[in-house]
Amino acid sequence: PSPVDTNPSMEVKTSLLDNMIGVGDMVLLEPLNEDSFIMNLRNRFDHNEIYTYIGSVVISMNPYRSLPIYTPQKVEEYRNRNFYELSPHIYALADEAYRSLRDQDKDQCILITGESGAGKTEASKLVMSYVAAVCGKGQEVNKVKEQLLQSNPVLEAFGNAKTMRNDNSSRFGKYMDIEFDFKGDPLGGVISNYLLEKSRVCKQPRGERNFHIFYQLLSGASDDTLMKLKLDRDFSKYNYLSLDSANVNGLDDAASFRTVRNAMQIVGFMEAEVQSVLELVAAVLKLGNIEFKPESRVNGFDESRVKDKNDLKEMCELLGIEQSVLERAFSYRTVEAKMEKMSTTLNVAQAYYARDALAKNLYSRLFSWLVTRINESIKAQAKTRHKVMGVLDIYGFEIFEDNSFEQFIINYCNEKLQQIFIELTLREEQEEYIREDIEWTNIEYFNNAVICDLIENNQNGILAMLDEECLRPGTVTDDTFLDKLNTICAEHQHFESRLNKNSKFLTDHSLPHSCFRIQHYAGKVLYRVEGFVDKNNDLLYRDLSQAMYKATHSLMRQLFPEGNPAKVNLKRPPTAGFQFKASVGVLMKNLQTKNPNYIRCIKPNDKKVAHIFTDSLVCHQVRYLGLVENVRVRRAGYAFRQPYESCLERYKMLCKKTWPHWRGPARDGVEVLLTDCSVPTEEFAYGRSKIFIRNPRTLFTLEERRRACLEDLATLIQKIYRGWKSRTHFLLLKKSQVVVAAWYRRYAQQNKYQKIKSATLVMQSFIRGWKARNILRQLKYEKRCKEAVTTIAAYWHGTQVRREYRKFFRANAGKKIYDFTIQRIMQKYFLGLKTTTMSPMDNSWPAKPYGFLEGAHTQLRRIFHLWRCKKYRGQFTEEKKAVYEEKLEASEIFKDKKALYPSSVSQPFKGDYLEIQKNPKYQKLNSAMEEKVLLADLVNKINRANGKGSPRLFLLTKSNFVLADQKTGQVKASVPLPDLASVSVSTQSDGFFALKLKEGSASASKGDFLLSSEHLIEIITKLHRIGTTAADRDQINIDISDEFLVQFKQDKVCVKFIQGGPKNGNSAACKRKNNRLLEVSVPSP
Ligand SMILES: Nc1ncnc2c1ncn2[C@@H]1O[C@H](COP(=O)(O)OP(=O)(O)OP(=O)(O)O)[C@@H](O)[C@H]1O
Ligand SMILES: [Mg+2]
Repeated sequence: PSPVDTNPSMEVKTSLLDNMIGVGDMVLLEPLNEDSFIMNLRNRFDHNEIYTYIGSVVISMNPYRSLPIYTPQKVEEYRNRNFYELSPHIYALADEAYRSLRDQDKDQCILITGESGAGKTEASKLVMSYVAAVCGKGQEVNKVKEQLLQSNPVLEAFGNAKTMRNDNSSRFGKYMDIEFDFKGDPLGGVISNYLLEKSRVCKQPRGERNFHIFYQLLSGASDDTLMKLKLDRDFSKYNYLSLDSANVNGLDDAASFRTVRNAMQIVGFMEAEVQSVLELVAAVLKLGNIEFKPESRVNGFDESRVKDKNDLKEMCELLGIEQSVLERAFSYRTVEAKMEKMSTTLNVAQAYYARDALAKNLYSRLFSWLVTRINESIKAQAKTRHKVMGVLDIYGFEIFEDNSFEQFIINYCNEKLQQIFIELTLREEQEEYIREDIEWTNIEYFNNAVICDLIENNQNGILAMLDEECLRPGTVTDDTFLDKLNTICAEHQHFESRLNKNSKFLTDHSLPHSCFRIQHYAGKVLYRVEGFVDKNNDLLYRDLSQAMYKATHSLMRQLFPEGNPAKVNLKRPPTAGFQFKASVGVLMKNLQTKNPNYIRCIKPNDKKVAHIFTDSLVCHQVRYLGLVENVRVRRAGYAFRQPYESCLERYKMLCKKTWPHWRGPARDGVEVLLTDCSVPTEEFAYGRSKIFIRNPRTLFTLEERRRACLEDLATLIQKIYRGWKSRTHFLLLKKSQVVVAAWYRRYAQQNKYQKIKSATLVMQSFIRGWKARNILRQLKYEKRCKEAVTTIAAYWHGTQVRREYRKFFRANAGKKIYDFTIQRIMQKYFLGLKTTTMSPMDNSWPAKPYGFLEGAHTQLRRIFHLWRCKKYRGQFTEEKKAVYEEKLEASEIFKDKKALYPSSVSQPFKGDYLEIQKNPKYQKLNSAMEEKVLLADLVNKINRANGKGSPRLFLLTKSNFVLADQKTGQVKASVPLPDLASVSVSTQSDGFFALKLKEGSASASKGDFLLSSEHLIEIITKLHRIGTTAADRDQINIDISDEFLVQFKQDKVCVKFIQGGPKNGNSAACKRKNNRLLEVSVPSP
């Protein structure tokens, strides 16, 4: 919300400033003086703006015509709006009062003041109807409202009358408390009435009427009713009804009568009660018609007699009174003094007086009874604490040509009301500023306290004087009363009288002798003293009240309880003046406890017509109501004040520091609050106990913000409540969900279980079926097996038997013969094989006898050969074995390669041909040999030069070969076998061989050896065998070719073999061809 701002552009949706005619609030009037004030009123009145404010006081001008400003729409418009938000209206005041009653718990009173005809009664009804429209609804409440509203027509019918000033003038004072409960719903009400102007019952001033009810009854009641009441429709038949203004323009008495009857019914009057009331009204009319005539008595006094007894009779019939009793009461009067009863006669005048007194008393008591009866209906039922809104509509200040006791009383009452207004608005306000230590310049105003004092002072007030006179023994007349006043009040500024000792008025001809004049706050009023004493005494002869008490009419008896002879009371009843003063005192006290709201009614003209604004008349009212002063005080002061505590309490939610609690003193709290709300400092002042706010707007802004805040708070509460509700709801749902889920799960599991169970059963039955089928199959199989076994056994036995007995059958002889023949053949074949030799060399093998034996035949041949070879090998010794191994090796080396080889096969390998150990010739050589000699032979060493051979001894040991001289046995050469590189031989049948030495070895220096031997095959084989093991190498190469090179010392010589004719026998001959060639010719075989 925007900070409080007093400039006109602030956020107020509407304002009384909108479309304003003149100024809506006189506080804003510039310049402020009486003329401008009245001009403003007039201006507004001319534009049908009948309401104007002075701050919170409403000035209401009587428009004397119905304006369209009281519609339900208007009610809605003003409902719950701030006072200054809309153009001035009585509804705004009513709303303000109602809301502060409802929301701030403050009892309210609405004080409506103004002259007769200014519109007070109308205003009070408007207020009531507004409150009824905006407060709570409901059957019970509506009934209460209806009863409260309908009490108005009833009371108006009995208490209002047409006067010169007002066609519907209230002739009684009325104060109504409407009671509300804490919600602002109406509970009921209490009505207090003040002094009905009862003299009107008997006599009305010119141009005025009696109370409405008389005319209404006569115009509106049905013929039947009238007959029952013994009444005539014709007004002129009744003395008490003034005739000249019996019919009032714009008043429909007949219709009003129906309204009243209806209202009485709504308020709760029983039919019998209504009837009784009407009977009493009729009785009053009848009473008025009773006339008296003098009857001279012997003692010379006139005695009154009832002239025409018809009315008396009818009246007595109506009320159930014995005619004679009443008749006597009009003629005699019992005076009781000092326990003595004396009966005096009444003269005619006295009789009339008594009659009128009875009529007035009867009517005013009836009126009071009506108020009591209405109160009974509308009183609040509950005894609970309630708030109250009081509406005061009291007869306005009135100045007639002829003013009597009633006017005096009425004007006194208005004086008191003005007093309370001054108290509360002017004096109180100013005093409060001083009390609260607020800077203040005093404003002069007229205080009417002196006038009140003149009237009500207990010692020398006019009312006190009057009472004194009434109670004084001796002759008391109105004149003695005036005398007394003249002496006592002579000095009073506001009291004027011709006979006053004050010379000022001696020549004042406007002031008759029998009158006194009072300068009321609202003007001077001349009172005629005639009747003051009587009216104050309000005497009703006891005979009359006793007569009334004797009536059978129960309401009548109720109204005259003092007529009960059992309760004779000699004490004088309190005077009318005294009673009134007391009740006004109570009223004032009551009003002071409440928060006042003022409606100041002004009548624009004397003619009761619309559109006329009489300046002088208005000016007069404005002046005596002190309205201009009111504006001045208002303007100088502060529009609103409130104790710090309640201010803090009300607005604490607008500031974080003060919400929800302020711990310090309230004043500091308010200071913090206002600073926080950034209210401009000139807008408020701090009193001792109260905060003063200058401008209502500031207050309304605060209110507006408070309202917004409250909405937020309400939202918060709602939120929490909703949260709580939803949570509880949720928990409930959750709980039920768990229950539902549990049940559902149970149900689902049950279902599932049922399914599983039936599935299991199906499966079980299948499995059982399957198992049973298996067993069945098994059993069937076993059965078949047994059958098969039986069958096989049967067959087997059959076979056995058949086999056993087969031999006994010729059919089997063929096989036997066949087997036998085969056996014979085999026998013969095996015996035939006996002829073969055991020699492995024998290749012969008998021919196969039959084709079918071919496989066995060849196999047998192979097996036999292997066997006989094995046998043959088994005969060999180790030496023989070695010899054969050598032979085998010789075959591997030479077979098919050297022509010499086949001739050697048959020759055994002897090795030691020289018998070197035995032969002594070689003793020396043998001992020279370190190792065992494996071969010893005689060889020829070929000479390079001629090709001739020289014999040499060739020895071979395990590690070397040796060449030695044949004769001497001298070792010519010893070559270690590893030095031997290879051996070369020819392909032919010669015995030449070359031993080639490794180049570079020690032995190689002498060159290779070309030798020839008879035992070439044996020598080469042994060399190959031993050389291989001795040299620890793969092999000694053996080259077999017909041409090879031999290294002789330096030269290499080629040895070439050729086949030639045998020249020198069978041996081969070697011949040197040239330096490089040796030719060996080998004889061809
Ligand atoms: N607001 C109004 N609108 C229309 N007419 C009004 C209004 N106020 C008053 N009147 C008229 O003025 C007449 C007198 O008003 P009302 O009876 O309220 O005066 P009063 O102040 O009660 O006088 P008294 O003191 O005599 O009772 C009403 O009968 C009505 O015709
Ligand atoms: Mg009135």
